[in-house]
Amino acid sequence: MSTTKEAWGSRLGLILAMAGNSVGLGNFLRFPVQAVQNGGGAFLIPYLVCFLLMGIPLLWVEWSMGRLGGRHGHHSSPFILQTLGKRTFWAYIGVFGIFTNIGVAAYYCYIETWTLSYFFHSIKGSFLNLSQNELVLFFDRFINFQTTDFGIPFEAVVFFVMCILLNSFILSKGLKGIETIAKVGMPLLILFGAFLALKSLILGATAASALFPEANAWDGLNYLFTPQYDSIWKPRVWLAAAGQVFFTLSVGMGTIHCYAAYIKPKDDIALNAVSAGFTNEFVEIVLGSLIVVPLAAGYLGLDWVKANIGFGIAFQTMPYLFAQWGTLLAAIAGVLWFGLLFFAGITSSLAMGTPWMSFMRDEYGWNQRKGAYSFGLLTLLLGLPCVLFYHYGVFEEYDYWVGTITLVVFALAEMILFSWVFGLQRGWAEITMGAQIKIPSIYRFIIKYVTPVLLIAVLLGAIFTPVNNDWIEAFSLLSQGYGWEFDSSSLIGQLAQWELRTQIAVSTDQEVVNHVQKELWLRNGARIVLTGLFAFIALLVYKASKKHSQIHEH
Ligand code: ALA
Repeated sequence: MSTTKEAWGSRLGLILAMAGNSVGLGNFLRFPVQAVQNGGGAFLIPYLVCFLLMGIPLLWVEWSMGRLGGRHGHHSSPFILQTLGKRTFWAYIGVFGIFTNIGVAAYYCYIETWTLSYFFHSIKGSFLNLSQNELVLFFDRFINFQTTDFGIPFEAVVFFVMCILLNSFILSKGLKGIETIAKVGMPLLILFGAFLALKSLILGATAASALFPEANAWDGLNYLFTPQYDSIWKPRVWLAAAGQVFFTLSVGMGTIHCYAAYIKPKDDIALNAVSAGFTNEFVEIVLGSLIVVPLAAGYLGLDWVKANIGFGIAFQTMPYLFAQWGTLLAAIAGVLWFGLLFFAGITSSLAMGTPWMSFMRDEYGWNQRKGAYSFGLLTLLLGLPCVLFYHYGVFEEYDYWVGTITLVVFALAEMILFSWVFGLQRGWAEITMGAQIKIPSIYRFIIKYVTPVLLIAVLLGAIFTPVNNDWIEAFSLLSQGYGWEFDSSSLIGQLAQWELRTQIAVSTDQEVVNHVQKELWLRNGARIVLTGLFAFIALLVYKASKKHSQIHEH
């Protein structure tokens, strides 16, 4: 527990920092990929329903838990949760709220590294005159640590260290540092995004080439925004939508609790939470949709987009598209695009550092500098395997366990705590205290029943994903007595690493077998590292709990 007087400087600063926490790489890199892979307009309805029934309730719950914890001198989830639940058990559940952030920051900062490096390459003009294939090679060289045209060997590692140092430096300035970056970064991000979105809106069919005569930017937009109602019968799309809502809003992570713990005890949270949440949705649905997909559709056609959409498109394709605008505009667009991604990323990764820093200050009296640089060190140690063994699935392993599963587990636990252990009566009073909007009372019912039930459904869906993700077929086979066949992407399949083991079993190429065996080994190593991190934080919580009980006894 601490008696820190640190607080947000202004309401605008708080909302921008919270929005910055949510608005991140997920809005620009993850959202378009998820939307296209899940049928474009078919994704939209489940996504919006998940936002209203899970995202918004979780925002209110996490903001109010944070403010309540702050009143008791707790600024990170372990003892915030314990304040509500009383038992020490909840402090251990709260470990997730620090663990997830360090785990995600480890690989998130690596993507941030790419944006930073590509930002400088755009200024330098490294991408001018490169064909699409050459851009793919450029990216490969970069992540495989061959010298790129800055002449720095291990450029990705150098930029990774720089990125972490920058995050730690800003964090060492406390909330003031975060607020300043949010106040500069968020408006710039929106401005940069608006410019690129406008370019794609006016592109239309003008960029169609002999190779892609059908290309039209509007096809991309129509694909994303024409609702298809049959998707509501596809659990796969619902799971993807729920995952995206979690990741983009940063709920189930612990950052919101932490930021909200620095709000003044009686300040509004109801309106603040929706303001930050809707800012995120504006950036995601409007800007996130208007850049990558329509631009790529405008030059390469919608079919190309559907076949090739993926995370790498932002780095391997966008510079090629910008190059079509001429030397100067290409450089400007590259700077805007990678600058936008960098600001989106850093305002989120800064948030990920705060639960650890706050915990160490509250419980162990560490100052901001020590908290910030120790976060940097942890991120570096955990992130290096991601950087060095990117091709061996370490990145994916982290993303699956700490960027996907733990968010849902933690969110479910905190909803049970809030609505059922603490009690919705008191919980509702917390949410509405000082509220500057009237929250529709239907949300009492949603928070108590609907959100927890949906979270359970999402978790069960992830555990029991049937083969080929075909739920209708799976239930039909089950009803005929054929049992349930899990998909290798199910939690069970992931845990047992079915996909890799099958590859080893069926491959006749020794080189492939060796590669996959090494991948298995490294992925297991990643699991050990993550488990070790969790145990380490749990131990810190244990020692802090002991101190609390000794204080109570005296
Ligand atoms: N909410 C952050 C993002 O979308 C983590 O990237």
